[in-house]
Amino acid sequence: MVWNRHLQAALRPMVCAFLLLGGAAPAQTAATADTLYHALGEVPGITALMNDFVERLRVDPRIGKMFAETKPANLKEQLRDQVCQLSGGPCRYEGDTMKAAHAELGIRKADFNALVEVLQVAMDARQIPFRDQNRLLALLAPMHRDIITR
Ligand code: HEM
Repeated sequence: MVWNRHLQAALRPMVCAFLLLGGAAPAQTAATADTLYHALGEVPGITALMNDFVERLRVDPRIGKMFAETKPANLKEQLRDQVCQLSGGPCRYEGDTMKAAHAELGIRKADFNALVEVLQVAMDARQIPFRDQNRLLALLAPMHRDIITR
């Protein structure tokens, strides 16, 4: 619905602020996390979402340059495993900790917000319901403490 889309766009900065302030929902139980994994389309859906997300990140005018030295194929795989595991799926993320992966990047709050917005656009494009979008964002939000370094 058109109005719904406008409302989502208008709420986006507020959602970011809410998440950054640590207002995210508490950790999911196993059952709801499993539901989120299904809601995201399981491995095929999450793979497609992360592939599109990384492509959008690379061309984003605000933060695209930060990915210039990064191998997109590897980042897509790591994100797929991470999101699959976090949402209750059968994958295992074996990449670096969020602290180690982002330590040298000098990421600001604005960069983090930009990445969240790009993820929301990618989720909109796959018509993932707003409620499920927010459930994924709530799982990712606490990571800001390890990712934002300035
Ligand atoms: C909740 C937010 C975020 C999550 C879940 C996340 C997740 C990840 C993951 C899983 C990796 C791969 C680590 C590995 O290969 O071992 C990674 C790498 C990377 N992330 Fe993030 N990230 C987040 C926020 C950000 C932000 C805000 C930026 C910059 C705007 C960013 C820039 C990068 C870059 C450039 C790399 C590649 C580093 C390299 O090539 O070694 N990330 N991230």
